[in-house]
Parts: sequence; structure tokens; C-alpha cells
Amino acid sequence: MTLLFPLKEIISRRSDASTAVCKDYSRAEDGQWYAIKGCNSGDGNLPYPFYVPHSEWFCQSLCECIGLACPPRRIIERQSKELVFGSRFEGGVDLSNTFGGVRLDWWHYVHNGKIPIDDFIYIFSKLYPFDLFVNNNDRHANNYLVRGQMDGVSFLVFDFSNSWMSNGFPPPSLPMASGSNTIRLKDQFKSCFRGFAVDVQIALDTITSLRQIPV
Ligand SMILES: Nc1ncnc2c1ncn2[C@@H]1O[C@H](COP(=O)(O)OP(=O)(O)O)[C@@H](O)[C@H]1O
Ligand SMILES: [Mg+2]
Repeated sequence: MTLLFPLKEIISRRSDASTAVCKDYSRAEDGQWYAIKGCNSGDGNLPYPFYVPHSEWFCQSLCECIGLACPPRRIIERQSKELVFGSRFEGGVDLSNTFGGVRLDWWHYVHNGKIPIDDFIYIFSKLYPFDLFVNNNDRHANNYLVRGQMDGVSFLVFDFSNSWMSNGFPPPSLPMASGSNTIRLKDQFKSCFRGFAVDVQIALDTITSLRQIPV
């Protein structure tokens, strides 16, 4: 339904992150900031950059179906009238308010036990098969958002620029290339986090849920 109601961009700002696809942020008429991606945002970086917004929308909609939480998404109508994908800013980068001390990246808190490894295994075991299914070959550690919630943290998943149709369709057969960020990250977690292993039942349940969605 929200596809029918693009939000108007009021002001925009260039991204200050060294980022491959997301180059601009928009503040929309609802007063919220969005990280935005259009059909040209991935030019030079992806096989089919035109499909970046479609792939983002599709993958995050599927995530919602199977119980993977993403930031709220909207279509943003820029001042130029271009329609782009918008991912609402939800924080999830600085955890020092939650855990005190100096600011550290989220994986340090998994490593030091402040984020229970089982909480991370739960989300990872859903997301990993999902990323393989949508051919997301760019799941690096900064493509998780982790923010304080209740007395712990919660994970949000985002950034499906390098997925689905923007990477070429239909997706290539599995296994995914071992040099991809998605596979390398899993191997890094294995060697960095004591007790890390994919929960096979959660992974299989994820695939069962995907199978229930009609073509
Ligand atoms: N919904 C969001 N909430 C908070 N930060 C975000 C959100 N969307 C994007 N960002 C920030 O912008 C950066 C770039 O966005 P991302 O979707 O990862 O684009 P890219 O494809 O260029 O990597 C992220 O690494 C993150 O820091
Ligand atoms: Mg990213």
C-alpha cells in the first residue's frame, strides 16, 4: 500500500560514508531521514544497477514475511521527481550508550559476551540462507544494524543492493563464490566468535518459510 504514496523529499544531504551505492540521504515530509538508492545509484559497481531499488524493496518485503526485521522502507520522491528506495534511519551504529565505555563496533560486544552469542546465532541462521537465496554476495559486518532495545540489543538487517535482480537474474547456482563478502563473513565469525555455528534447524525453517511463498 505504501508504494502508492511516495513521501516527498524536503531536503537532501550527500552521504559522508565511504559507500558503494547509497550516496544520498533525504529528509522526507514525515520529518524522518532516509538512506536512499535510485536506479542510477549503483552505476559502475553492479551488473544491473537499474534494479537496485527493486531488489531492496523485494528482498526486504520477503524478510518481513519470514520474520527478519528491517528498517521501515518507503518510496521517496526526490525534489527532482525521481522515485527512489528509502530506508529510514534507525540508529544502530553507536552502542556506547547501551554498554558504556568507548564506542566499539557491534561485533566486539559479541566477542566480549555483552551481546549473547545465541542472540546473534539466531539472526545469522535466518539471514545466511536468505542471503544465499536472494544471491546477496555483499553481507559484510557493517550491513547489520545493532541497537539497544529493552535490556539488550536487537538486530536489523538491511542493504540488499547487491542482491536479486541487480546482480543478474536468475541468480547463479549455489554454492556462492567463496571469495564473496557473504561467505567470508561467515568464516570470520567462525574463527572470531567462540561457540559460533549456524543453527541448522533455524536455517531449514527459514527455507521452509520461503518455500511457502507462492511464485
Ligand atoms: N536504515 C538505516 N538506519 C541506519 N543507518 C543506515 C540505514 N540505511 C543505511 N544506513 C547507513 O548508511 C550506510 C550505507 O547504506 P547501505 O544500505 O549499506 O548502502 P551501500 O549499498 O552503499 O553499502 C550504512 O552502512 C549505514 O551506516
Ligand atoms: Mg552497505
